[in-house]
Amino acid sequence: MAKKVLVTGGAGYIGSHTCVSLLEAGYEAVVVDDLRNSDKEALNRVEELTGKKVDFYQFDVCDEAKLDKVFSEHKINSIIHFAGLKAVGESVEKPLEYYDNNINSTLALCRMMLKHKVKNLIFSSSATVYDQKNEVPLSEEGTLGCSNPYGWTKLMCEQILRDLTHAHKELSVVLLRYFNPIGAHESGIIGEDPTGIPNNLLPYITQTALGRREQLTVHGNDYDTPDGTGVRDYIHVVDLANGHVKALQYADSRTGSDAINLGTGKGYSVLDIVKAFEEVNGVKVPYVIGPRRAGDLATVYAAPQKAKEVLGWEAEKGIEDMCRDAWRWQKKNPQGYRNS
Ligand code: NAD
Ligand code: UD1
Repeated sequence: MAKKVLVTGGAGYIGSHTCVSLLEAGYEAVVVDDLRNSDKEALNRVEELTGKKVDFYQFDVCDEAKLDKVFSEHKINSIIHFAGLKAVGESVEKPLEYYDNNINSTLALCRMMLKHKVKNLIFSSSATVYDQKNEVPLSEEGTLGCSNPYGWTKLMCEQILRDLTHAHKELSVVLLRYFNPIGAHESGIIGEDPTGIPNNLLPYITQTALGRREQLTVHGNDYDTPDGTGVRDYIHVVDLANGHVKALQYADSRTGSDAINLGTGKGYSVLDIVKAFEEVNGVKVPYVIGPRRAGDLATVYAAPQKAKEVLGWEAEKGIEDMCRDAWRWQKKNPQGYRNS
């Protein structure tokens, strides 16, 4: 019988792509998402793409009574916990909302694991849990520490999950530390659909290329990097999604907790990305140089070796694929899912 995975936040950007990977790999997906930052249409399209059904429940993951019902109705084998708030700047303005949602949703799922004897959980962590003093490439052994409430919620959830596996030796948790997910499914049918003005680089670029934004502001060109602009480890969202399937298999084969980077190990500057996007897609991305953005670092990229060793996973897609697929999605869906 196919294994069932509870995917919290499965209608979101990474969650919807991961649902496709799971269904293609033969898993069944049960999604819980209250759609606070997503659209049900994303899941309709996951079904369209895969020809398979997703069981969908619309409610807040912190609502334990409703969660309990889902776990009673389905024999859940593993959980992938994507649901959470993710905007760094907003977390500084509204720290309590971030601590409340990100931590209570994780605690609720921990209690469900114990009550319903679910052994495996994959947690969406972030490269932001690494202390800023670490040198690049960032390896899993780096020291941990954060500079904003969003990051702290991720680090605290990691600790909660580590403690849980210490106390309950039968459990298995994989903490996946994502670098910068970008791009979209190559069909252009699902992709990233931020509400309001995008904070992140790629959605800002695609909306600028489309004419929805006048120009990109490059946040500083006086960093200690080859061209002065910030360097990041961009990873194709489909590679990232496939990493979750590998993490499930790994979790199934062991107990305890383990933190693993999901990145490519390569760094690209803001101007590298603008140039690649323009060349691959034959479009212009007008930009101006602005001041540095508060809280930004010069250079962040992963040491990706552990994922290869323990998961047998490595990123396959390059920067051109990421730029091409992001643009295909945006062109096909100029207003994201809201047109449907
Ligand atoms: P997203 O906002 O697109 O997806 C999150 C989903 O969770 C949304 O569909 C939202 O409606 C849902 N959600 C939030 N709180 C909920 C709750 N209490 N109950 C039910 N549903 C809830 O974000 P994403 O980019 O897909 O990120 C997924 C996860 O990965 C998040 O935990 C995020 O912090 C983490 N992460 C993302 C990035 C990134 O760059 N996108 C990087 C590192 C880590
Ligand atoms: C941000 C978050 C990080 C989160 C990640 C993925 C901060 C400080 N960090 O990382 O916690 O895990 O998103 O969601 O917010 N840039 C521009 N102009 C823009 C937008 C971005 O020049 O309009 C630059 C940034 O300065 C940076 C690079 O592009 O050098 C990438 O930015 P972004 O996509 O926001 O990701 P991060 O800052 O790496």
